[in-house]
Amino acid sequence: MDAQAWEKVDELIDRNQEKTIKDLFAEDPGRAERYSLEAAGWYLDYSKNRIDDATLKALLKLAEKAGLKDEIEKMFTGKKINATEGRAVLHTALRNMDPKAKVKVDGKDVMPGVRKVLKAMGDFSDTVRRGQWKGFTGKRIKYVVNIGIGGSDLGPVMANIALTPYSKRNMKFFFVSNVDSTHLAETLREVKADQTLFIVASKTFTTQETMSNAEAAKAWLVKELGDKKAVAKHFVAVSTAEKEVSAFGIDVKNMFGFWDWVGGRYSLPSAIGLSLMIAIGRNNYKKFLKGYYKMDRHFRTARFARNMPVILALLGILYHNGYGAESYCVLPYDQYLSRFPAYLQQMDMESNGKGVDKDGNPVPYTTGPIEWGEPGTNGQHSFYQLIHQGTHLIPCDFIGCSRTHNPVGDLHDKLMANLFAQTEALAFGKTADECRKEGVPEKLVPFKTFEGNKPTNTLLCDELTPETLGALIALYEHKVFVQGVIWNVYSYDQWGVQLGKVLAKGVLSDLTAKKPSGKHDASTNRLIARYRAAVGR
Ligand code: F6P
Repeated sequence: MDAQAWEKVDELIDRNQEKTIKDLFAEDPGRAERYSLEAAGWYLDYSKNRIDDATLKALLKLAEKAGLKDEIEKMFTGKKINATEGRAVLHTALRNMDPKAKVKVDGKDVMPGVRKVLKAMGDFSDTVRRGQWKGFTGKRIKYVVNIGIGGSDLGPVMANIALTPYSKRNMKFFFVSNVDSTHLAETLREVKADQTLFIVASKTFTTQETMSNAEAAKAWLVKELGDKKAVAKHFVAVSTAEKEVSAFGIDVKNMFGFWDWVGGRYSLPSAIGLSLMIAIGRNNYKKFLKGYYKMDRHFRTARFARNMPVILALLGILYHNGYGAESYCVLPYDQYLSRFPAYLQQMDMESNGKGVDKDGNPVPYTTGPIEWGEPGTNGQHSFYQLIHQGTHLIPCDFIGCSRTHNPVGDLHDKLMANLFAQTEALAFGKTADECRKEGVPEKLVPFKTFEGNKPTNTLLCDELTPETLGALIALYEHKVFVQGVIWNVYSYDQWGVQLGKVLAKGVLSDLTAKKPSGKHDASTNRLIARYRAAVGR
C-alpha cells in the first residue's frame, strides 16, 4: 500500500473524527445522489459511509498509486499475475461474450477452448434435462449430486439456491463436500441410484475430501446397481486433470475441462457450473454469464470514481486499515441468497488472507478482513445487536431485490422495509435526548441510546435473475482483486491451506496404524490416543 497516499487518507480520518454520518448528511443532503451509482443491473448507495469528497479523492489516489489501471489490464489480458504459481488469472475469459474476443496465454488464444467447453456443457445438460441421458437401467436422471469442495462446491451450491426459481423443479440437486461421512450418507438416503448423476468436480482431482467421497459414491452405486459398468452412465467429471479423471474410471468423453488459469474460488463460470447449467438450462446459464460480463466491462472501462468494484474496495480499505474494522458483514435480504456470504468467505479470505507482500516481506498493515453474514431479517434477531450497540465497528453490505419471485401478501414490503430501516438505524442511531423525549426513564437512557455512525452500503437490483446474480458475483470478485492490488499481495494463490493437508496425512496414518508413531506434539499425541481408545484401536 503506497505509504504516502495512505498518510493522506489517515490524515483525513483524523480530521473528520468528530463528524458523524449524521453530520455529513446534515451538511450535504445531495450526498445520497452523488454517492450512488449503477452498473450491470445493480444500484449501489454508498452515501451512508464516513466519507466526503476529500476522503474519496484520497482513496482514489491510493488506487492510482497502486497502478490499478495497469493491473486490471494485466488480469484481463492473461498476464501471469498469479506469480507464485506461474499462472494467468482469467476467470473473465470464461464469460467473455464478445464473439470476436481473443485472449492469449503464452501466445495461444484461450477463447475457442472456452466456447467449446460451454457448448459441450450445453449439449450435455440438454440431454439430461430432456431425459435423453439414460441411467444404467434406462431411467432418466432425476437427481444430480455434485461432489466437490471449496471452489468446486461453494459456488455451485450458492448459485443453485439463488436461482431456484429458474431451476427444473422435477429434478433435485445435492452437493456433497465434507469428508464427514454423514454428508454423503444423508445425501444418498435422498436419491435413487438408477436415477442419479454424480458430478465429480475437482480442479486437481486429487483433493482428499472430494476423491474419498467420489470413491465412496462409486462403491455405493456399483453395489446398488450390481455392475461396475453402471459408473459410465452415472458419473461425469469436471476437472483440469484428464489423467486422474481417467484413473478414477470416468471416460474422458464425459469430462468437462477447464484450465489452470481458473482459480478454484473463481471457477463457478467454468465447467464447475455444470450442475447449475443442468438446473437452469443453457439459455439461463448464458444470461448468468452475461451478467458477469456486464460487470467485467464496467470494471474494466469505468473511471475509478464511478467504478462499483473500485468504490466498494476502497471503502473496505478505509474501514479495515483506517478504522481497524476486522470484519465486514454481507446481509442479503433475499432468502435465495442465503449461501452468498459463505461463498464470499472463500473468495475474499482465501484470496487476501495473506501476510507477505509480493516481494515476500511481511506486510506492515493488516489485510483480508473477515467476511461473514446471514440473510435478513434473521440476522436482526441474532447478531445485529452487536453491530448496533457493541464495541466493534462492523461495516455492512445490505443486498436487496425490489421484486420478489414469491409475492405473498405484504411480506416483501416488510422485508425491504427492514432492510432500509436497518441502514437508517445504523447510520443515524438514536440520541440520549431523543430517548428522553420519548419518555425513557433516565436510568435506562444509556441502554436505549444508539450511537449510530455505523457505515453501510446498500446494493439493490430489480429482481434476482441469472443476469443480476452473475453481475453480483463479478462485483465482489473485482472488489477483492482491487484490494489485493492495493495491499500488494498475491490474491490468487492459497499456500496457507497446504500445511493442514500435509499434517492430516500423517495424523491419519497414526489414527489407523497398529501402533501410533508418537511423533507429534504432546497435545496431538494425546488426542490421537483418546480417539484410538474410543474406537477400540
Ligand atoms: O482449499 C484449497 C483449495 O485448493 C481451494 O482453493 C479449492 O477451491 C479447493 O481446494 C478444491 O480444490 P479442487 O477443485 O482441486 O478439488
